[in-house]
Amino acid sequence: MRIDVVTIFPEYLEPLNVSLVGKARARGRLDVRIHDLREWTHDKHNTVDDTPYGGGPGMVMKPEPWGEALDAVIESGAQGAELPVLVVPTPSGRPFTQELAVELSEKPWLVFTPARYEGIDRRVIEEYGDRLDVREVSIGDYVLAGGEAPVLVMIEAVARLLPGVLGNAESHRDDSFAPGAMADLLEGPVYTKPPEWRGRGIPDVLLSGHHGKIARWRRDEAFRRTVRNRPDLVERTDPAAFDKKDREI
Ligand code: ADE
Repeated sequence: MRIDVVTIFPEYLEPLNVSLVGKARARGRLDVRIHDLREWTHDKHNTVDDTPYGGGPGMVMKPEPWGEALDAVIESGAQGAELPVLVVPTPSGRPFTQELAVELSEKPWLVFTPARYEGIDRRVIEEYGDRLDVREVSIGDYVLAGGEAPVLVMIEAVARLLPGVLGNAESHRDDSFAPGAMADLLEGPVYTKPPEWRGRGIPDVLLSGHHGKIARWRRDEAFRRTVRNRPDLVERTDPAAFDKKDREI
């Protein structure tokens, strides 16, 4: 997969050199290219923003540098048949979910446009919306100072789903929000050695070697945790998906 990010803070994306994403890049599973938006400005101050039409607080990112930057990025991949999906982080976008992460992980090429200030001139979104699949995406109901942190979040969520990136292909099977039998349930508690720590043991069932009982216990714990932390998820689940044990919880 190829990922391009156009930003006025390229250094903000440095965490993409470490850990899981860094390793995926080093192994050639992920081709990440970071671009400085100011390279596509032509004035002495490298201006990327201006006052909003209609008045109001804050500044709006100018369309010209974004247009030139995105044309150049898209052109740089023109030899490939596919066009990129343009991902625009904004608190007014659609929610970023595991489902969207899975969908994006199946695309060959993503371009992210993290904005600062009050956002990007609307005409940029319209212009590329005519040519590309454009997704305006929010990572949550809070407002950050810019889209760079959301881009880090989204790239990590997508990268760990790529084939060969996680050590064990099964490790995202039971993720909270992963599709399947545990869909809509949060992942339950986990334990490792030592068997006793500060006087605290681990649930006997995990030592039983009984796979059926362990699976049952994990399902119950996941259900309990979901009821406690995310009752909204339980409410939206079809009651037909609950089993007899769930009803006792
Ligand atoms: N930019 C600022 N806040 C954001 C959010 N919550 N999601 C995506 N982009 C943002």
